[in-house]
Amino acid sequence: MGFDVERVRAAYPALAEGFVHFDGAAGTLVAGPVADAITATLRSAVGNRTTVFEAGRRAGAIVATAREAVADLVGGDPAGVVFGSSATALTYLVARTLSTTWNERDEVVVSRLDHDANVRPWVQAAERAGATVRWAEFDAATGELSTGQYADLVNPQTRVVAVTAASNAIGTRPDVAAIAKIAHAHGALVYVDGVHATAHVPTNVAELGADFYVTSAYKWSGPHLAACVAAPATWELMTPDKLMPAPDTVPDRFEFGTLSFELLSGITAAVDHLASLDPGDAPTRRERVLASMSSAHAYTSGVFEALVTGLRAINGVTVMAAPPGRCPTVSFRVDAEAPAATATALGDQGICVYSGDYYAYEYFQSTGLRDSGGGVRASVYHYNTAAEVDRLLEAVENRAKGEDNQ
Ligand SMILES: Cc1ncc(COP(=O)(O)O)c(C=O)c1O
Repeated sequence: MGFDVERVRAAYPALAEGFVHFDGAAGTLVAGPVADAITATLRSAVGNRTTVFEAGRRAGAIVATAREAVADLVGGDPAGVVFGSSATALTYLVARTLSTTWNERDEVVVSRLDHDANVRPWVQAAERAGATVRWAEFDAATGELSTGQYADLVNPQTRVVAVTAASNAIGTRPDVAAIAKIAHAHGALVYVDGVHATAHVPTNVAELGADFYVTSAYKWSGPHLAACVAAPATWELMTPDKLMPAPDTVPDRFEFGTLSFELLSGITAAVDHLASLDPGDAPTRRERVLASMSSAHAYTSGVFEALVTGLRAINGVTVMAAPPGRCPTVSFRVDAEAPAATATALGDQGICVYSGDYYAYEYFQSTGLRDSGGGVRASVYHYNTAAEVDRLLEAVENRAKGEDNQ
């Protein structure tokens, strides 16, 4: 059975507002069951975590259930799922904590393809420790991050290799497993930014070789909350700053203050929703997630191909590097105008795209495009349709011709 996009769209109440959303890379719409779960938690007796009364037990169960959900989504261990307000906050936490043991002999490797959330926390932590930062470069023409360069970048002094599972600017999917193999051969930890990738492809942290994998639920139909997944034994080796009475156990000692129980309910509902995209009846949620993400990826790849082919065919439009096998995200420019002008004009027509550097700071610095406004980004999510692509292409073509279709 094919991917039933109309059934999937019906699960997103906000689509009824009629906008065309190619802005999923900045945050997708929230699935209806997610909003319902958040509301239900807020409307019921949920206390702070304790086992001595029912409302407190509910809070504990919400946290445990959400850890299981994230583990099912990415293939991790629920006991190694740490929640935080954002991927940026979690990455800062991990970088700060790991770097307390670094000195001037140590090194970290970051990439210029990454969102700044997986660059600056490492660079700043390294600077404080006097450690060396080494940079992996992408190929501007192909958009690829070659694996080969890591053989030169990583050495026995390397503490961490931070790399993205997918670029939020051009969708490139580096060969993380091969990079991790090189890093592990030298005893380095691998920190993978899965914020863009998790929304688009099936994820298996073990296959990726990720020691840490960070993901943000608002990129995959959920609420504004993030998780960093690692083996419990990896967290055990780390000592974050924490309050005296707060738990010393893993993963709790990495979570500060009271968690947002309502948003955690939303995370569980989001994973359940993703698991239902494909109507198969595999016995475990993990299997249903994998089947659903594969089928959604096959669907979005077709829609995305039509988008990229269409953009390339428009005179006066430049499409940025288009690596094969990438996540369905493209950056482009209408040559005659600044990216912000294109995005604003499309926005006025109810078509949501992003413009600027989308925090892919190093990518746009390296390509030299940052100072002139970066790019226009369109990202296909599983609720987008071929008809929406036609609408976007027509609007872009009109901009390129110097006409507006209002
Ligand atoms: C690839 C990537 N990494 C990290 C982030 C930062 O995520 P958060 O907003 O949860 O800090 C984003 C957000 O756009 C992203 O696209």
